[in-house]
Amino acid sequence: MSSSLQSRLPLALQQVPRLVFGGGALAAAADYLRVLGSVRPFVVATRSSRNHAASLHPDAHIDASISREPTVEDLHRLLAQVSSVAPDAIVGIGGGSALDVAKLLAALATGSQSLAEVWGIGNLTARTLPLLCIPTTSGTGSEVSPNSILLDEAATAKRAVISPHLVPDACFIDPELTLTVPPHITAATGLDAITHCMEAYANNFAHPLVDTWALDGIRHIAGHLATAVREPDNLDARTHLALGSLYGGLCLGPVNTAAVHALSYPLGSRHHLAHGHANAILLPHVLRFNLSAAPQRYAAIALALGAAECGPPADTALAGIHRLWRIIEATGLEMRLSALGIAESEVPSLAAEGLAITRLMRNNPRPITQHEAESIYRAAFQGREVEL
Ligand SMILES: [Fe+2]
Repeated sequence: MSSSLQSRLPLALQQVPRLVFGGGALAAAADYLRVLGSVRPFVVATRSSRNHAASLHPDAHIDASISREPTVEDLHRLLAQVSSVAPDAIVGIGGGSALDVAKLLAALATGSQSLAEVWGIGNLTARTLPLLCIPTTSGTGSEVSPNSILLDEAATAKRAVISPHLVPDACFIDPELTLTVPPHITAATGLDAITHCMEAYANNFAHPLVDTWALDGIRHIAGHLATAVREPDNLDARTHLALGSLYGGLCLGPVNTAAVHALSYPLGSRHHLAHGHANAILLPHVLRFNLSAAPQRYAAIALALGAAECGPPADTALAGIHRLWRIIEATGLEMRLSALGIAESEVPSLAAEGLAITRLMRNNPRPITQHEAESIYRAAFQGREVEL
C-alpha cells in the first residue's frame, strides 16, 4: 500500500461519548433520557418515526414536520418552537434531515449565537442542551458526525455548520428501525454511506486512524446492499448496512468527503434530488476520474468492494469500478441525470457551483478543472460506464 495519501498531520478524533448499537437501542435511548432526568425533551422526528419517538418519553414534545432535506427556514421555525417549549434535551430520530436539524437546535436553542454566526467550520462556540441521535436510515452517519447541512433557499445552496459541539452526547443505532425503509431510499442512503467511506479512504487527508473504518464500511455495504434492497426485512443485511453507515459517519469528522459530495450539492440545492441519490449518480464517474491519482488506494477500495486482484493496482482499481457499477445496477437506482428532468445545458453552472465548495474539493486526490467537472457531469447524464 502506498503511503502517498497518508496524511502526516495529527488527527483529532472527537467521538460520541455513548454509542449503543444493536437490537433494543431505542429502549436504551429512553433509559438514557430517564437517567438524564429529562422531564421535557424536544424530539425532531421524521413522519415515519413518530411512533418510535412517542416511545421515548411520556412528555416528549414531538415535531414531525421535516419531510425532506431541511432548509434554513425549517430551522428558524423549529427554533421558535423550541423557545416556547423550553426543553431540557433535544432528540433527533429519523434520517439525516431530522438529525441535522436536531443537532443545530441543541446548539442554537439558548440564542447566544445565531445561525448566521455559525456557518462554516469551527464557528460554533458551545452547545448547552443534551443531544441524542437515533438514525432510522443507514446513510448519513450524522449521528456520529460534527456536521449539519441545511438548504439555504435564498442562496440556492447547501451550507454546512461543522463543529465538535454538534457531535451528540449519545447515539442509539438499532438496525430494526431501518426495516421499513423503502428500497429506493435504502439504495440511495446506502450508496451515500459507501461514498463517505470511499471519499475518506482516497483523500488528501486520509489517515490510518480512519482507514480501517472506511474499508470495513465499504465491505459491509457492498456485500449486503442488494440484499437489503431486495429483501427489506432482512435484519442481517440491515445490520451490515447500519454498521457501514456508522463507519462512514465516523470518517466524516476527522477526514470528511471530497469531489463526489461537492459536485452533488448543486443537484440537491437546485433540483431537490435526494442527497444519497445525487452522490450515487456521480460516484462511479468521479472514481473513474480520480483513479490515476491514487491507484493503490482505489485498488484497496476495489478489493473491499469484492473485486478480484488483477495485475497492477490501476487494473484492480478499474475492476473495482466495474464491480461498483454492478452493485449499483442491482439496486435499480436511476443513474441517468437525463432521466431526472435536469437539462444538460445546466452542466457548466452545475460544475462551477460544485467546484466552488473548496472545503471538500481540497480533499480530492486529483484536482478537477471546470472542463473536467463538466465531463464528469456529462458522463452522469448518460448514466453508464464511460472513459473520462
Ligand atoms: Fe453524504
